[in-house]
Amino acid sequence: MLTENTVEFRFLAEPTDVNFGGKVHGGMVMKWIDQASYACAAQWSKRYCVTVSANGIRFIRPILVGQLITVTARIVHTGKTSMHIYVVVRAGDPKESKAVVTNRCFITFMAIDETGYPVKVPVYEPADDEDKLLEKVAMQAKEFAKQLDLDFEQSLGWK
Ligand SMILES: CC(C)(COP(=O)(O)OP(=O)(O)OC[C@H]1O[C@@H](n2cnc3c(N)ncnc32)[C@H](O)[C@@H]1OP(=O)(O)O)[C@@H](O)C(=O)NCCC(=O)NCCS
Repeated sequence: MLTENTVEFRFLAEPTDVNFGGKVHGGMVMKWIDQASYACAAQWSKRYCVTVSANGIRFIRPILVGQLITVTARIVHTGKTSMHIYVVVRAGDPKESKAVVTNRCFITFMAIDETGYPVKVPVYEPADDEDKLLEKVAMQAKEFAKQLDLDFEQSLGWK
């Protein structure tokens, strides 16, 4: 059963989604991840939201045209203004019942008001051990990403 912290998109991979190799384009998968996560963040915060960062996007298996895609986006941690979302993409032949995990990542959104100013978001409370573990890993990912931001800025001067 889907709860308030989760959004699920289901659709078919289309011929217009493919790259030169005949598989679904990685950029298309990133778009699906971003869209499902936006819906998840907006549903949670009841606000317009923007993407802050995407961390650890992993391309595990290729996706083929005609496969049934399921993108599950789930809030696993909240800060003051940020929502940290765990996304899993699955793909499979719609004629069969099994699907495989093709991608997963953490993606962070912020809620903003009409003037673009960050706003506080409702606090997420993990309900069980799996939720607690996901939150712990999401917080580690956030710290890693922020350290990388610092490295870009201070060591590489790319801000
Ligand atoms: C998103 C944006 C408003 C953030 O502004 P900012 O002042 O640099 O953000 P901050 O450093 O104050 O961080 C904001 C929040 O993100 C979190 N955060 C910052 N860097 C992060 C990272 N690399 N990974 C995960 N979370 C991060 C912070 O912890 C903070 O959360 P909190 O309020 O819950 O503690 C600004 O960078 C922006 O406008 N970016 C463009 C957004 C965009 O165009 N997205 C794509 C289209 S929607």
